[in-house]
Amino acid sequence: MRQKIVAGNWKMNTDYDQGLWLVSEVVNMVNDEVLSDVKVIIAPPFTHLFGIKQLIKSAPKVRLAAQNCSSEASGAFTGEISCSMLKSIGVEAVIIGHSERRQLFGETNFSIKKKIKQALQAGLSPIVCCGETWDERNGGIHFQIIQTQLEEALFALNRDEIGKVIIAYEPVWAIGTGQTATPDQAQEIHRFIRNAIQEKYNSSIADSISILYGGSCTSKNAKELFSNPDVDGGLVGGASLKSREFVDIIKSF
Ligand code: PGA
Repeated sequence: MRQKIVAGNWKMNTDYDQGLWLVSEVVNMVNDEVLSDVKVIIAPPFTHLFGIKQLIKSAPKVRLAAQNCSSEASGAFTGEISCSMLKSIGVEAVIIGHSERRQLFGETNFSIKKKIKQALQAGLSPIVCCGETWDERNGGIHFQIIQTQLEEALFALNRDEIGKVIIAYEPVWAIGTGQTATPDQAQEIHRFIRNAIQEKYNSSIADSISILYGGSCTSKNAKELFSNPDVDGGLVGGASLKSREFVDIIKSF
């Protein structure tokens, strides 16, 4: 059985006190209400990571992720945060290649590939994002775009390494727009990604990798999205900032 995962990407939201409050609400609700074996990942801003780590110690289902990391191991890179620094405060995963980082901060498949390597070397699980823009989908090149993202960013990994990766399919047109992909659209791309992994590696690796859907995922649409055979959970932005809403998404399996 593949691991079911719901990850909350807070982006650049909440100050420190608000973040601690939000996570303590989530922890209480998850401990009280979530019976399934879903893994919950919280990805708050960097400044909150250490404080939140202390709060989630009482929540066995809840894990901690960063939203980004450096593509370098250490040294003269002012303002950067390395994967080993994250690891040293108990962070377990890191989101890499989010479309906002690709579009607003110039990240490419090649810089993403370097970050994935750094994460794996430090013992973090990379949550690697891929997805097409609206124009790319309209132009009928969405499969090609995703294939290229996978090949250039991920497929240099060996079998051991790829097995440690979590993939998030996030159509750029669905992120923060309220325009969620239909369950069929999500399933089609998730199947495509799994097939690509199977062709490159093998079917047992392809079957074991969790592929999350992201893009305007809410408690209203999560159940239908997660019921697809190749959708193993969600990467949730806006809806992860409200504890009740986020926990209802977690309970959608
Ligand atoms: P959204 O963001 O749920 O607000 O659309 C998802 C994401 O960017 O990971």
